Amino acid sequence: MKLGFLGTGKITSSIIEGLLKSKTKFNQIIISKRNVKNSRFLKNKSKKIKIYENNQDIINSSKWVFICLTPKVARNELQKLKFRKKHIVISLVSTISLREIKKSCNPSKNIFKAGPLPFASSCKSPTIIYPKNKNINNFFKKLGLVVNPKNEKQNDHFWVMTATMATYANFLAELHKYLVKNKVDKINAGEYLYEFSAGLNELIKHEKYNFKKVVSDLQTKKGINQQMLNALSKKNLYKQLNLQLKKIYKRIKKANDQG
Ligand SMILES: NC(=O)c1ccc[n+]([C@@H]2O[C@H](COP(=O)([O-])OP(=O)(O)OC[C@H]3O[C@@H](n4cnc5c(N)ncnc54)[C@H](OP(=O)(O)O)[C@@H]3O)[C@@H](O)[C@H]2O)c1
Repeated sequence: MKLGFLGTGKITSSIIEGLLKSKTKFNQIIISKRNVKNSRFLKNKSKKIKIYENNQDIINSSKWVFICLTPKVARNELQKLKFRKKHIVISLVSTISLREIKKSCNPSKNIFKAGPLPFASSCKSPTIIYPKNKNINNFFKKLGLVVNPKNEKQNDHFWVMTATMATYANFLAELHKYLVKNKVDKINAGEYLYEFSAGLNELIKHEKYNFKKVVSDLQTKKGINQQMLNALSKKNLYKQLNLQLKKIYKRIKKANDQG
């Protein structure tokens, strides 16, 4: 298997680190010189990783081509690049539609959208794959869970979830800041919050993803959990969250409709 990556940024680095950790078999990984620091770092991890300067050379030497460029750069580059029928193209670009990628990568008919997350580096990433394909699924299963949306609309809704990573992390960052401000050791505070979220995740799984039950079970009548949840709900925190989820969906849909 010869894998080529256009763009050597955050997500490419995470995928490659995860692949190496998971001991996935591959003949060669070809990465772009851009970014220089990242490509050097990755190359030092395996003899099978090669750096090419030119995007067309990466494509010509690969069977699977991963598009890991930001939307504007991807649109610009794809206009100049030539694909062949043999290519399997996996686009990670959130706001370019499958239709647009298909047009740009003609005559290849094997075009997919994939949405892995940075936790792919520790093989703990849920990855959205659309349309469903056994080989692509098996590849990303090495990096964690794979979900296959039933249609493009569902695919867009799953991608909305990927927009919440930083907000989710920032919630924990605020709790951490609170503890540290109150003179708790930074590492102790971090370890406590890590176990807190890991335990919560386990509980959700144990309750078979009945989130409503978990939220209810975690509150004692007139207790401190109920006080916090009610206060934040009254301040429209969750209303705002829902509003922003809809806005992100609209942005993703608009980009897809334009393609
Ligand atoms: N990060 C995530 O969690 C995540 C998850 C799923 C999907 N995605 C999608 O994946 C794509 C990349 O995201 P990212 O977070 O990895 O972004 P990023 O860290 O900014 O990576 C983009 C890479 O493209 C390189 N680049 C810029 N112009 C180029 C060109 N003309 N030819 C070749 N390479 C070029 C950049 O190099 P320089 O640094 O030298 O400019 C950089 O290495 C985006 O479309 C994003 O929506 C990201």
